[in-house]
Amino acid sequence: MQTSSKSTNRLCRLFQLKYPLIQAGMAGGTTTPALVAAVSEAGGLGTLGAGYMSPGAIRQAIRDIRELTARPFAVNLFILPEPGQAPGETQQRARADSAWRLLAPLRERLNVREDGPPAVWSESYREQLAVLLDERVPVFSSTFDVPDADTFAECTRLGIRTIGTATTVREALRLEQAGVDAIVAQGAEAGGHRGTFPGEGEPPLTGTMALVPQIAGSVQVPVIAAGGIMDGRGIAAALALGAEAVQLGTAFLTCTESGAHPAHKAAVLGSSDESTMLTRAVSGKHARGIRSRLLEELEPLAGQLPAYPAQNALTQEIRRTAARSGNPAYMAMWAGQASPLALETSAAELVTRLMDETDQVLSRLAAVHMKTDHSAGPCIT
Ligand SMILES: Cc1cc2nc3c(=O)[nH]c(=O)nc-3n(C[C@H](O)[C@H](O)[C@H](O)COP(=O)(O)O)c2cc1C
Repeated sequence: MQTSSKSTNRLCRLFQLKYPLIQAGMAGGTTTPALVAAVSEAGGLGTLGAGYMSPGAIRQAIRDIRELTARPFAVNLFILPEPGQAPGETQQRARADSAWRLLAPLRERLNVREDGPPAVWSESYREQLAVLLDERVPVFSSTFDVPDADTFAECTRLGIRTIGTATTVREALRLEQAGVDAIVAQGAEAGGHRGTFPGEGEPPLTGTMALVPQIAGSVQVPVIAAGGIMDGRGIAAALALGAEAVQLGTAFLTCTESGAHPAHKAAVLGSSDESTMLTRAVSGKHARGIRSRLLEELEPLAGQLPAYPAQNALTQEIRRTAARSGNPAYMAMWAGQASPLALETSAAELVTRLMDETDQVLSRLAAVHMKTDHSAGPCIT
């Protein structure tokens, strides 16, 4: 899919991309500087998933990416209250203490050595953001809530483009009002955490096909479709629905340069259309991943567990212990509903393949006419 002057869209111009293709930020080590840089070098937008990284580690990764590419890239953060300052913090602490006891049998079974619940549940978003501003990253991408309008204004002043994530039209409108440059419309098929803002109760699980045209019809800024898109068919469909770009996570997770655990990659590559489930029990926030014993054993406890990021911190050592011993049964292997379509390939090859496939689908569809003379046969050949 070449971006000639005819086909170059607003999003490509805004983010200075050859292709309207974004590799999702995937926190937890998947999006290595090598993966991010390879996608950007190939003409898409690579994204560092920095949600779980310390400010120092983020700065180092940004510098590593810049050693590998001069093309634009993004850094993705979780919009969270500062540690210890979330509304209802005291109740969450009490809930976390009792959840810690509930998880004791699991820790014992897996030989997880941990003396008590972690004192701090997340990195400081403010400190992480300060690094992005200081480094003047080309694109600041975010999820879980709306960065404040001052942050967007500061990004604009520094020449930093911004992307926010919405799972409803209401969230998209709030992002647009705050001054975001482009909006990811994340459908329920998506792997990983739902970007749903806090305080919304049960997340409305609107699928990509239903969500993208509704958000595209409601906001003025470009919309980026995400969730279940793995190949040229999905990309062409997203463009038809009104998206001006796509964001793919699971498809890039199995790339050679991805830092995902080998067992995670193998589970995605060996998955079927029935493999994923959505659960809030692992982290306290709804997320989609490959069904595993961890997800199935925790799911019945969901009602008794604290919210994100407390529950995420409570299960972190369990997941790390499982990963260290290569035991996929107790790892959280986030992946989207179309995971069986994943390929084992380099990021550059994947980008080229996706763009070629999209062109093929678009050319094929250009010959389709619903209201032609049907005496010659069916309209679709
Ligand atoms: C392993 C994994 C981790 C993810 N981590 C993040 C993240 O840190 N930040 C974010 O905005 N989205 C994250 N996502 C969601 C993606 O941004 C995107 O919405 C999703 O991957 C799209 O669906 P797909 O996986 O079917 O392509 C993650 C997705 C996966 C699969």
